[in-house]
Amino acid sequence: MGKFVVLDHPLIQHKLTIIRRKDTGSNEFRRIVGEIGGLMTYEITRDLPLEDVEIETPMGKTVQKEIAGKKLTIVPILRAGMGMLNGVLEMVPSAKIAVIGMYRDEKTLKPHEYFFKAPKDIAERECLVVDPMLATGGSANDAIAALKKRGVKEIKLAVLVAAPEGIKAVQKENPDVDIYAAAEDEKLMDNGYIFPGLGDAGDRLFGTK
Ligand code: URA
Repeated sequence: MGKFVVLDHPLIQHKLTIIRRKDTGSNEFRRIVGEIGGLMTYEITRDLPLEDVEIETPMGKTVQKEIAGKKLTIVPILRAGMGMLNGVLEMVPSAKIAVIGMYRDEKTLKPHEYFFKAPKDIAERECLVVDPMLATGGSANDAIAALKKRGVKEIKLAVLVAAPEGIKAVQKENPDVDIYAAAEDEKLMDNGYIFPGLGDAGDRLFGTK
């Protein structure tokens, strides 16, 4: 079973409280979602492997460390995942980005992919799927399936707020995927929103309420 980790750094928790407040406007909401995305990335990448590399400083030759292993691709789930993208990229500016557009057929509930654009070597890369809300887990599982279909083997999921139901659904369908969240909330409500949550993350980010 993949890990579920709550990143409880005080800065993350403080910023999350700001965006939970209903009076926080889109401008501040957008900025802070990005900031939390960056802080979470800092924590998620803590275990990245390092390797020795010989370099030359102005003083002479030396052996120092650089990040080894697979290169990272960020995968924002449309549309709210885009809100976390810039903050994540600030921590890993050389990462590539894969965009997946999908919707669920309302009758069959099957996911339909209408857009997929990723680096050519996606199968050789580690993917970090980002989405502010892990509610039912449906979109996260669909995005993970779209990546696995292209041969991706290492996938992590980063969300701001996770409902217990969504965590269970991803762990059941994708036991190889580690999930990182800024908070695990109380429950998924009948209307599909997370409680206490932060409302409709996409609308608050894009100002479309
Ligand atoms: N998507 C949102 O934007 N908010 C929720 O609470 C659940 C899903």
